Amino acid sequence: MQIEANQSNLWTTVSKKGVRWNLSQSMGRLFSYVEILKFGGGVESFIKKIQDEVMSYGPSYGSGELRDAIAAIYGSDISWQSVLVTAGCRKANFLAYYTFLEPGDEVIIVTPTWWPIMAIPPSFSARIKFLKTKVEDAFVPDPDEIRKLITDKTKMIVLTNPNNPGGSIMSREDLQGIVSVAEKHGIWILCDEIYKGIESNTSVHFPSIADLYDRGLATNSLSKVVGIPGVRIGWITGGKAAIEEMKIRWKYICFDTSILDQSIGLIAMTNYNTIMDLQRNIAVKNRQIIESWLESEPLITCPIRLEAGTTAFLQCHNDMDTRKLATALLEKSATSIVPGIVYDNEGAFNNFFRIGYMSEAEKLEEGINNISAIIHSMPG
Ligand SMILES: Cc1ncc(COP(=O)(O)O)c(C=O)c1O
Repeated sequence: MQIEANQSNLWTTVSKKGVRWNLSQSMGRLFSYVEILKFGGGVESFIKKIQDEVMSYGPSYGSGELRDAIAAIYGSDISWQSVLVTAGCRKANFLAYYTFLEPGDEVIIVTPTWWPIMAIPPSFSARIKFLKTKVEDAFVPDPDEIRKLITDKTKMIVLTNPNNPGGSIMSREDLQGIVSVAEKHGIWILCDEIYKGIESNTSVHFPSIADLYDRGLATNSLSKVVGIPGVRIGWITGGKAAIEEMKIRWKYICFDTSILDQSIGLIAMTNYNTIMDLQRNIAVKNRQIIESWLESEPLITCPIRLEAGTTAFLQCHNDMDTRKLATALLEKSATSIVPGIVYDNEGAFNNFFRIGYMSEAEKLEEGINNISAIIHSMPG
C-alpha cells in the first residue's frame, strides 16, 4: 500500500538536527517523570505500587480507573464504557478510520489540519473531499459548505478543534450547525480535540463532539496540552456501540497500552485540572509575548486571534515562500518553524508559517527575534 510521507514530520525531523530554538513543535510545557509522579504522591510511592507487579499485558481498553478519569473531562452522559484508551491520539484517529471506513466511502475533511488526519483515509480506499476553510473565518467551516459536499457515500466528517495550525476554536454553535447537517444523513463526525483545554478565556466552554452528538467520535491524548507525549496514552470517546466496534479492531492492531504508561497516565488525568491551569498560565503569558512582538514587527501578522491550543499561524507581509524562511532560519540561526506549504500543498499558505509557543518565555523571545532578524535580512 502506498502512502505519502508525512510532510509535517519531514520538517520537524529535519529541524531537530542542531536546533536550539525549536518553534516547530506543538507540545505543551513538557513534564519530567519526577514532576508528574509528584502529583501522585512522589516517585517512591509510585515505585512501591508497581515494583511487585508482573510485566504483563495492560488492560486492553485501558484500566477502569483510567477510563473513569478520562470520562470525567466530558459531560455526565460519558462514562468509562464510552472511552477506549489507545497508544496516542494518532492511533485513536487511525482506529476510527479503520473501524468505520469501507472502500468507496467518502470522507469530508475540514482543512487546514494536521497532515496524518488527511493522509490515512485513502489507505482504506475511501475518497477524501477537502473543505478548505479560510483564514478570515479563523478556519471555522460553514455548515452549508459541508452540506454541499455530502452524497449518499459520505461516511464521515473530520474536524480538528481547536485547530492546528490556527489555534482557533469552533464554538458550541459552530459545532451544532455541523451536527445538524451530519445527523440528517447519519454521518459520523470524528473530531481531534488534542489541543483542547488551555483556552485564554476560561469562560469559553465549547463542548466535545462526544457530548454533542451520538455519532460523534472525540480523540485526544496526553501528548500536547498535558505535556507528556512520551507516555503513549491517547483515547477515543464516543457512543457505547461505536466503542464496542472499535474494541474488536483494537485487539488486532495494538491489543493494549503499557501498564506503566497507563499508571502514569492515571496520575496525569486525576490531576488534569491542575495541569491545565499550569499549561494555561504559560499559554496566556506566551500569547502576550507573541502579540507584543508582532506590534513592533511590520513584516509579520497573526490573522487569527491567539486564544487556544499551542500554535500560532503567522503570515508574512509579502510573497515570501516560507520554505525559504524556514531553511534560512535553520541554517543561520538554529531555529525551526513549520512552513505553510505543509498545510496546503496547492500553495494557499505559502507565505504563512506555524510556530509552537509553549517553550520557556526566554527561549520563545530569542526564537521570535531570530525570525525577525532573518526575515529582515531576506530580499523582497
Ligand atoms: C491534531 C493532532 N492530533 C494528533 C497528534 C499526535 O498525537 P499523539 O502524539 O498523541 O499520537 C498531533 C501532533 O502534532 C496533532 O497535531
